[in-house]
Amino acid sequence: MRHLQTIADLRAACDAVRARGGRVGLVPTMGALHEGHASLIRAARAETDLVVVTVFVNPLQFGAGEDLDRYPRDLDGDLAVCAREGADIVFAPSVAEMYPAGPPATTVHVADLTAPMCGAARPTHFDGVSTVVTKLFAIAGTGRAYFGRKDAQQLAVVTRMAADLNLPVEVVGCPIVREPDGLAMSSRNAYLAPEERRAALVLHRALATVAARIADGERDAATLAELVTKTVATEPAVVLEYADVRHLHDLTECTGPIAGEVLVAVAARVGATRLIDNVTVTVTATGAAVDLGVTSTGTRSAGSEMP
Ligand code: PAJ
Repeated sequence: MRHLQTIADLRAACDAVRARGGRVGLVPTMGALHEGHASLIRAARAETDLVVVTVFVNPLQFGAGEDLDRYPRDLDGDLAVCAREGADIVFAPSVAEMYPAGPPATTVHVADLTAPMCGAARPTHFDGVSTVVTKLFAIAGTGRAYFGRKDAQQLAVVTRMAADLNLPVEVVGCPIVREPDGLAMSSRNAYLAPEERRAALVLHRALATVAARIADGERDAATLAELVTKTVATEPAVVLEYADVRHLHDLTECTGPIAGEVLVAVAARVGATRLIDNVTVTVTATGAAVDLGVTSTGTRSAGSEMP
């Protein structure tokens, strides 16, 4: 495994593999790697010839007063995870390498999809994400890029951006990886004190309740959103930011009975820590399936399916 720090080195490595007919698999991360990230590396390893993990805490996607300075950084640990999962390259550039002239004059803005949900509380966040991901796609070039459904809005935004701009990258979405007790894995879970960690489980509980109600036949979008709100309200230490039921790809709000692919998404604060979680619901003429993801031990998280 090679540890690269310059754009020129990464570009050369990707070009060389493509010249031999190989496929490049990109896994963009901000480091502090956990099993969720590891699952993306494994997906890339299974489908591509050169697995590139990028580790870059992107200042552009943090708003004023957010956690840029205290965001967990552990490059040695990250290198160990990448080596264990069989990555070929870890690209960990400096801020100066990525933004040599300071914040770039050119940024990427994906309209509409970035306005609701996390975009409402973090108005500059997705421009920062879209801009750095465009840069990473431009550096790594043609290939596949792997993103987690944990950040469902980010996945929708990046997918739309790649399509709109004809970027030669196939965006691949991967299941949410959860702790054995259901908490969605996140680098930010490291911020949680033990009591906050316990309280945070209410997010998974709310989504599991939604899954159970859908299995019982509930289809009304407002009722499902209300169920999340009410469940989160049972945990006073958790302050709800949003509980939304939206169409999975364009993130428009669902009204009335849900149909097709739907996202039930939640964001909340536990103390100073902001957490997000979601489930994907697929409604067909014959029934509905709820995807809660997988646990870190590799089993399917308790979801629900109905005939
Ligand atoms: P980061 O939060 O490090 O996440 C990197 C990737 O790992 C994202 O695609 C995210 O969805 C995925 N991921 C995180 N937790 C996961 C989990 N529990 N299960 C499955 N996948 C999970 O997302 C970012 O970094 C940044 O915004 C980035 C895209 C790298 C741009 O800076």
